[in-house]
Amino acid sequence: MNEWGGVGMDEQLVDLLVCPVCHGALVWRTQVRAGGRIEEGEARCHGCGATYPVHEGIGLFLTPDLSRHDLWEEVESRLAAYLRQHPEVERTLLATPLEGLSPADRWFRARILEERGAFAEAQRAEELALADLYTREWLACYRAQLAYVTEHLSPAEGPVVDLASGRGGLVEELARRSSRPIVATDFSPRVLRAARRRFAFLGLARRMSFLACDARRTPFRDQAVGTMTTNLGLANIEQPEGLLPELRRVVAGELLAICHFFPEEDEANAAAIRRLGLATFLYERPAVAAFRGAGFEVELANVRRGQARPTPEGVLLAGAGIDALPVAETELTWCTLIAR
Ligand SMILES: C[S@@+](CC[C@H](N)C(=O)[O-])C[C@H]1O[C@@H](n2cnc3c(N)ncnc32)[C@H](O)[C@@H]1O
Repeated sequence: MNEWGGVGMDEQLVDLLVCPVCHGALVWRTQVRAGGRIEEGEARCHGCGATYPVHEGIGLFLTPDLSRHDLWEEVESRLAAYLRQHPEVERTLLATPLEGLSPADRWFRARILEERGAFAEAQRAEELALADLYTREWLACYRAQLAYVTEHLSPAEGPVVDLASGRGGLVEELARRSSRPIVATDFSPRVLRAARRRFAFLGLARRMSFLACDARRTPFRDQAVGTMTTNLGLANIEQPEGLLPELRRVVAGELLAICHFFPEEDEANAAAIRRLGLATFLYERPAVAAFRGAGFEVELANVRRGQARPTPEGVLLAGAGIDALPVAETELTWCTLIAR
């Protein structure tokens, strides 16, 4: 058990992992372990000699060749720098009753509180933020997909690997409602560290492992993953050309991907989506075609529609935004894309 009351990487995962660069076998050296969990250690590739540390219970399997636009790192360090220069804004942000703050300011307050380990207060701020950041339909569609994925999971053995887990919206749902081990992955070590602390606080970390890896170059051996999930993860992956061949390589069973698709005729959002380079997974037709092209069979389940509006910017933190999309009000089609 570590200082956060959480646990390290499940030792059973070792059998599923290879070098993300050359897929060579890994030779493990464990320095600190407890209860079948690795806290500190190192894996060395027998093939190419690359090394991958396990630090504070998180396996770090990032490769140097893929560029990484880590928004968590950017937002948190920009926020910290801004608040250092404007301590009066931080004081007001933390002292104002939550109801008196704008939705985005509530969300940023939640981030500051979480960073300080004030998880219960952070959760309250976040809940109040979400209720006003998103439309009621958006939240209903989102929750319906989380519920669908957790209900649809088979009770099969073996871990569920969640891709682009971020702060762990889906991971939390899986931990609460399924008995399977969960592997949360993201290319941002920062967000994984924060998620792990929060889940340890919530008493949910026991069945979880955390691996920092790029979804386009994962450390899983061929066909090692029985069930993979992702919650709005695919559409956040920049330069996703290698993504689906990689997922086809590692997924033996099924991939359940929560997606929302934009209407093709919505020009205002289309221009922003093109600028961000995220068109493949934000439109139904290219997304389905990309999966089929990579050799998957595809089914769209639990299809729902709901209005979405741009998330409002901060007021105290003037101009600070939450979601880049949508840039104009639109109707999104939500579904769980099942790929086998
Ligand atoms: C909006 S979050 C998705 C929400 C999250 N799945 C949940 O359930 O709360 C998108 C995540 O994708 C991650 N991401 C973006 N590109 C990635 C990549 N190439 N590989 C792995 N993760 C990536 C980001 O760091 C971010 O945490």
